[in-house]
Amino acid sequence: MSETIVIVSGASRGLGAALALAACRPGTLLVTLSRTEPALLAQHAREHQCAHRHYTVDLADPVATEAVAQGLFSELPGGARRYRLINNAGTVEPITPAATLDAAAVAHALHVNVAAAMLLTAALLSSAPSTADRRVLNISSGAGRRPMPGWSVYCATKAALDMYTRTVKLEQQGSGLRIAALAPGVIDTPMQAAIRATLPDAFPAVEDFKALHRSGQLAAPADVAARILDYLERDDFGQTELDDIRDY
Ligand SMILES: NC(=O)c1ccc[n+]([C@@H]2O[C@H](COP(=O)([O-])OP(=O)(O)OC[C@H]3O[C@@H](n4cnc5c(N)ncnc54)[C@H](OP(=O)(O)O)[C@@H]3O)[C@@H](O)[C@H]2O)c1
Repeated sequence: MSETIVIVSGASRGLGAALALAACRPGTLLVTLSRTEPALLAQHAREHQCAHRHYTVDLADPVATEAVAQGLFSELPGGARRYRLINNAGTVEPITPAATLDAAAVAHALHVNVAAAMLLTAALLSSAPSTADRRVLNISSGAGRRPMPGWSVYCATKAALDMYTRTVKLEQQGSGLRIAALAPGVIDTPMQAAIRATLPDAFPAVEDFKALHRSGQLAAPADVAARILDYLERDDFGQTELDDIRDY
């Protein structure tokens, strides 16, 4: 029987892949969601006596996301004492001035960065027993708390995720549900490589991100993942609703 169920969205690369690997522990059932199946995770999970299920889903499609979210909870075994949902999947695109935004790009980012977290959290709230220790961690960004030209959509979606987190916390007061939105710092992932590849016309701060990379200031995904999983198990998790891993 799995004592702990850990659900990680966007576990095929970057921070999510590191979180999934680090979450592989005996007695855990790890559930991952992304468009691509995480490489080597199934074998790693077996080696660590961790059960693993992967759901292939495009989180930009809210109807598919809702169906998968509800389906995955209905397929979970009973009896778990701890539920951990890490809403990590995200996209920094579209990186472009606000005047050039188009419907498809805006809708895609809103669905991946905001709606998917809402729908997965809704499934947990309606399906995981309230007697269990239920924790939701939304991976936010400093960009949701500080505007950056060229990132109007990314900044707005992360700010929306922060406000969603605050609202659910208020709504769930007394229910035992704990929730927080965490900025993870600047991490050496494919997303950072994509940011460095943008043109200054689209993203004026691109040189700052290249400089951070050149001077070795990007954190290693495995280090950040280990710190995030420790953070998620803190006794005071959820008390600071908008948090930053660099403060720990
Ligand atoms: N890297 C940083 O410096 C940094 C800083 C602040 C905040 N963050 C946040 O940290 C989180 C992880 O970032 P990262 O740098 O690891 O990003 P990444 O390297 O681009 O990886 C993103 C992950 O999200 C998944 N994803 C993206 N679009 C998806 C879709 N439509 N459907 C399903 N899954 C999707 C991807 O899986 P598939 O492509 O296989 O679907 C992938 O596993 C994001 O929320 C990001 O905003 C990152």
